[in-house]
Amino acid sequence: MIVIASSNGRIGIQRSMDILKAGGSAIDAVEAGIRLVEANPEDHTVGYSGFPNILGQVELDASIMDGRTLTSGAVGALQGYLYAITAARKVMDSLPHVFLVGEGAARFAAEIGLEPMDLLTDDVREIRQRRLLKSIPQEIFDKLDQEPELRRWVHLATDPERAWSTVNFIARDANGDIASGVSTSGWAWKYPGRLGDSPIIGAGNYADNRYGAAACTGMGEMAIRASTAHSIVFYMKMGLSVSEAGKRAMEDLNDLGGRYLDVMNFVAMDREGNHSGFTSMPGKSYIYQRDDMAEAVELERTFVKLNQRWQNPESE
Ligand code: GLY
Repeated sequence: MIVIASSNGRIGIQRSMDILKAGGSAIDAVEAGIRLVEANPEDHTVGYSGFPNILGQVELDASIMDGRTLTSGAVGALQGYLYAITAARKVMDSLPHVFLVGEGAARFAAEIGLEPMDLLTDDVREIRQRRLLKSIPQEIFDKLDQEPELRRWVHLATDPERAWSTVNFIARDANGDIASGVSTSGWAWKYPGRLGDSPIIGAGNYADNRYGAAACTGMGEMAIRASTAHSIVFYMKMGLSVSEAGKRAMEDLNDLGGRYLDVMNFVAMDREGNHSGFTSMPGKSYIYQRDDMAEAVELERTFVKLNQRWQNPESE
């Protein structure tokens, strides 16, 4: 039994492992671990106290995938409810659908009994105001929700000071079944309704018992365009090791044309539980815990250089 996660998953990985040790399934372990990250007020990239969109609304994206059956569930742009990963799980378990967004996702969250909650904390409200007012005149900021050309300001979503992090969990249980989950509040100051890779099966998340699983954090637009999570698993299907598959999928991103930032990370596991982490930013780590370990251990991710192809209008 093993759980791997992005390093901000430390707060939840022990809970995941306890579930596996008690005979629970990989899918239960993934959901439980991610819920603790979503509730962590220190983490501004996931769940409660996540950075909001440009209008100050916290919009959550999450997905979960069961490698036994390739069943999956996802929610996107969910406002007003904390446990996006549980909403995604319930979509998977109780609807004939895979993906709900916006008002439909919020309605569903209420139906399944999730508590409504204001996810925007005072400190994040203040960070947003301070940052946006550096670039947006006060009179426009005060009426931003009525701004007819909101797109003018959305380049702020590529602010390099704002991590566009996310949490990734992959678990393998005592039966050898694999599951993966991803949750995020997405890019700070994004355009309302923007979905990243996290809720998109095949982009930010993929699990298949026969080959393995992968989950991404970073610039979701790139993972969407390259189907990165699915590519990693597909490369394993083609016979590559988990390390070769990850490097290959990262290198694929350098072949994308158009604009993108050099920000991508992912974790991957093969069907035997061998794992690896990858990053385009040197010095990044991920964590893993096997059932014979007292606590999670941090491992350096393999660095693969991406070519930056982005210029912020503000710096032009
Ligand atoms: N990878 C998270 C996002 O792009 O929203």
